[in-house]
Amino acid sequence: MKERLVELKEEALNKVAEAEDAKQLQEVRVAYLGKKGPITEVLRGMGKLSKEERPVIGQLANEVRETIAGEIETKQQQLEKVALEKQLKEEALDVTLPGRPNPTGGPHLLTKLIEDIEDLFIGMGFEVAEGPEVEQDYYNFEALNLPKGHPARDMQDSFYITEELLMRTHTSPVQARTMEKHEGKGPVKIICPGKVYRRDTDDATHSHQFTQIEGLYVDENVRMSDLKGVLNAFAKQMFGQSREIRLRPSFFPFTEPSVEMDISCKMCHGDGCSVCKGTGWIEILGAGMVHPNVLRMAGFDPEKYSGFAFGMGPERIAMLKYGIDDIRHFYTNDVRFLKQFHHA
Ligand code: FA5
Repeated sequence: MKERLVELKEEALNKVAEAEDAKQLQEVRVAYLGKKGPITEVLRGMGKLSKEERPVIGQLANEVRETIAGEIETKQQQLEKVALEKQLKEEALDVTLPGRPNPTGGPHLLTKLIEDIEDLFIGMGFEVAEGPEVEQDYYNFEALNLPKGHPARDMQDSFYITEELLMRTHTSPVQARTMEKHEGKGPVKIICPGKVYRRDTDDATHSHQFTQIEGLYVDENVRMSDLKGVLNAFAKQMFGQSREIRLRPSFFPFTEPSVEMDISCKMCHGDGCSVCKGTGWIEILGAGMVHPNVLRMAGFDPEKYSGFAFGMGPERIAMLKYGIDDIRHFYTNDVRFLKQFHHA
């Protein structure tokens, strides 16, 4: 029995040494130390031994079992260490490799400029209003004193969808829609940013799709001087305190009188240069006093209420402010262009 135990020990230790992974080691453990294993079997047979032999064999059996268990434990730790080293080697990171930059975007220059303009007018008590880009002929033209067949419709070549639906050519329809909602009661004090569409041929200063910001203030006793004051405050905050504005007579069917606003040229301060084509002034927006017909059509009494409106193109403003020479830069999304204005 003694020999059998020694033999079993040798056999088990060899198998432990040969085990290549945790699974094989577990098989050895089950085979030699398990309940159905040979050592247990030896112990079971101890009843047949003499009184003297029993404790000797018992002790030996325990020693054999402990030795095998100890070896398995040591081997297990070894295998774990090897596995860990292998894993570390496989998953090793070369921390000396240069990092991959994670590029971050930023708001588009136009988005930012429009938000800045909104903030500026919100500071003067205006609220932001929006309207649909696919617009009814009625709001885009008729409600703005441009009945069907009016020659001034030619000022804004349009993309028609049906006889009565078109892509809005300006943000002015939002004026008409908002006034209608107020049901004849002032004040209405809004700015309306948004995309507009015209059948213009794309060139350095024209695009078939561009943005506009409309302003409208209707209340009792709103005067031309209020318009001038608001536009002056806007121009100075947008372009700098040293810039002057001037209003030139113009024509829009929805305003009477109508004006165009110029700001003094940044390059020559009014002396005349190539940027301002020798005039000393650069045009930035159209404006005027809301035409009584427009007030009336939107349900306001022109005897009681008056108002001013203006409309500007943020692209042209950005071009002037940042010296951008081609409107197409805004839409072609070359990141080299866009990135320059992330901190503007
Ligand atoms: C209008 O659209 C009027 N609705 C503005 C207005 C509102 C006047 C309220 C009076 C009262 P106009 O067609 O001039 O006006 O366009 C206004 C601005 O849009 C222009 O000053 C210009 O900055 C811009 N704009 C016009 N056409 C284009 C285009 N094709 N591409 C880029 N910007 C344009």
